[in-house]
Amino acid sequence: MKSWKDDPRADTNPVFNDNPLKLGLFALNGIGISMTTAPEALHTRWDESKIVSELADKAGFEANVPYARWRGFVEEEPEHRSGNVMDCYTWAAATSQLTKNSGVFATSHVPTIHPIAAAKQCATIDQISGGRFGLNVVAGWNKPELDMFGAPMKEHDDRYAQAAEWIEIIQQLWSRDEAFDYEGQFYSIKKGISLPKPRQSPPPIMNAGGSDRGRAFAAKYADMAFVIVKSDDPEEIRAETDLYRRTAREEYGRDLQIWSYAYVVQRDTEQEARDYLNYYAVEYGDDKALDGWMRLQGMHTQLMPKDVMEAMRFRFKAGNGGFEMVGTAEQIAERCQILHKGGIDGVLLGWCGYADGIRRWTKDVSPLLINAGLRRS
Ligand SMILES: Cc1cc2nc3c(=O)[nH]c(=O)nc-3n(C[C@H](O)[C@H](O)[C@H](O)COP(=O)(O)O)c2cc1C
Repeated sequence: MKSWKDDPRADTNPVFNDNPLKLGLFALNGIGISMTTAPEALHTRWDESKIVSELADKAGFEANVPYARWRGFVEEEPEHRSGNVMDCYTWAAATSQLTKNSGVFATSHVPTIHPIAAAKQCATIDQISGGRFGLNVVAGWNKPELDMFGAPMKEHDDRYAQAAEWIEIIQQLWSRDEAFDYEGQFYSIKKGISLPKPRQSPPPIMNAGGSDRGRAFAAKYADMAFVIVKSDDPEEIRAETDLYRRTAREEYGRDLQIWSYAYVVQRDTEQEARDYLNYYAVEYGDDKALDGWMRLQGMHTQLMPKDVMEAMRFRFKAGNGGFEMVGTAEQIAERCQILHKGGIDGVLLGWCGYADGIRRWTKDVSPLLINAGLRRS
């Protein structure tokens, strides 16, 4: 079985490097990972995004992953800030030009872009980035945003059936020199061809489906799958990461990386960190966004059972359901150890204030991770 550990794409794309715990930024192209109206949170501005991407690039972060959103999730308030998000492909092109080291991703909804257009945009960004691009494929779940396109959202498993055709077409467009026809249930391609080819052959695919169907999709097509970590116990985390790995290995003879994501509040004492978490997620917490998100997720995804979702309510507000990393640098380094012991290969990070957060991380957490053998210097 081919392992990503000796993947030739490591020559250009750091997501294939040998750091035991890889790091990334999440949600820099919009308002960030937290549902808050605190003034220091992101405002969907290029100048903010630029500063943070450059800091992460210098700090050796392997990935910079935006999120795709066409409309917010407060239905009675269409202008709500939860829909204020820059387009991922153009953001990734600009971020690729700006940075030198990090892998740069675009997150793409399947039903909002034709695979021929997506294949060419990805190849173009891979050229601009010198082979550092990756594609995060999402099937879509926010029905009102897909309704804007006039195309009713498909039943859950059909979304992944369409995503499978979409990605197969893209992979052929990236790899085949001759024109080809494709007849599927969702797409009909006549003499399809796409030039230029991407620099990597092919760019890595990431997926974050939470359901059984989503996991099967990731096992077959993705190089990097996301799990939402629901426990602090490395053994329980490992049970979930093993399930992904086993599915990929036994059903498709593939090996894939498992990533997760976390919200970070780092202060000199745990109390200060908890106070700050309370400030941005409770005092300035955006409950309207949280209620809308919970309602739509509950209606249209199979992410997790309803009771588990309710129990994670605060985590969704504090950091989109990410793993909690709140406390001193030492405590945060210990939380990174838990993820590593649980079989997580990489973690995307988000803060309420990104620039301040990444500066603190680089100064105090990074050396601890190097000492612990989780990252090379
Ligand atoms: C880390 C992460 C990033 C995601 N990014 C997006 C996104 O940018 N846009 C989107 O519509 N959905 C996004 N999702 C939602 C997933 O693609 C998926 O629809 C959701 O986890 C529900 O799983 P299911 O589709 O298998 O039921 C993300 C999920 C996770 C865990």
